Amino acid sequence: MLYRLARTGFFQLDAEKAHDLAIENFKRFNGTPFDRFYRQNLPHRPVECMGITFRNPVGLAAGLDKNGECIEAFDAMGFGYIEVGTVTPRPQSGNDKPRLFRLLEADGIINRMGFNNLGVDNLVENVKRAKFDCVLGINIGKNKDTPIEKGVDDYLICMEKVYQYAGYIAVNISSPNTPGLRSLQYGEALDELLAALKTKQAELAEKHSKYVPLALKIAPDLSDQEISQICQSLIKNHIDGVIATNTTLDRSMVEGMKFANEAGGLSGRPVQLRSTEVVKQLYQELGDQIPIMGVGGIDSYSAAKEKLLAGAKLVQVYSGFIYHGPGLIKKIVKNL
Ligand SMILES: Cc1cc2nc3c(=O)[nH]c(=O)nc-3n(C[C@H](O)[C@H](O)[C@H](O)COP(=O)(O)O)c2cc1C
Repeated sequence: MLYRLARTGFFQLDAEKAHDLAIENFKRFNGTPFDRFYRQNLPHRPVECMGITFRNPVGLAAGLDKNGECIEAFDAMGFGYIEVGTVTPRPQSGNDKPRLFRLLEADGIINRMGFNNLGVDNLVENVKRAKFDCVLGINIGKNKDTPIEKGVDDYLICMEKVYQYAGYIAVNISSPNTPGLRSLQYGEALDELLAALKTKQAELAEKHSKYVPLALKIAPDLSDQEISQICQSLIKNHIDGVIATNTTLDRSMVEGMKFANEAGGLSGRPVQLRSTEVVKQLYQELGDQIPIMGVGGIDSYSAAKEKLLAGAKLVQVYSGFIYHGPGLIKKIVKNL
């Protein structure tokens, strides 16, 4: 009810302005009596995944808190885990505005943000300051001006800097808004990246006496054969988890709608079915060897349940959270 009121106000604003205002308010309200507007006490629904205990399986997907500025507020909402980032080695401003659009008819969002973020050092400082109980995932990427052949170096730089502060590290090679990034999902390029990350993980695990799992985040716009090849690479390189999916380039679900032709990645209800299909195929190929985090269009308990039934161990929400607010987490967790 309260969120519906707030949403009416926020949805009058330009989408990115509303996002920035929400982040500012979460930062400002944290630790004050105003945080009761979003603080929720949720039942415990623990899940073991990648060697970590999550207090419940519902996470915040990457991209909402790119700089880790509101970890405490999202923790107070009751998320089982929060994935901050995508963060890059150096700060970058992202693509020109406008770059974020609501597709109200479809409960969808199109974004071409382009990894706008304040850089990995800033994120680490924010994480160090934050006090929270849930698991923290840190999602890493590459700078736009790093040539794709040198992309691996950017992931290694970020990994080294975030390692000791992360519950798990998500490796994002599936944003459609960084030119060339998705090419890392295929063949030798993927194998080389995963092998390099795995070597770095072993080195850092020894240095910090702590094993931090690595999860690869993939796109929904992949053929069955490409998904199979990714599975083989994940197994071969002993990757700890896979996150499916990022946003889609496909517009067939939103044809004719306002903003449908904007460039960027589409998320929310229009990607729900496709990401569930990807989770299903991943589970067929990986079984219980490598856990799956299902994300894409989760906007209700039943949508979350579909991802879990398809084989996901954990789920994440982004667009559903924008449309339904913190109450969505409660609805899902209570019913599990
Ligand atoms: C505005 C916006 C920004 C996003 N930024 C990122 C990002 O920086 N890194 C990432 O891995 N995914 C990012 N995503 C993708 C989401 O994490 C998620 O995978 C996708 O939106 C599908 O989930 P949903 O339908 O619940 O939104 C972004 C999504 C949106 C809508």
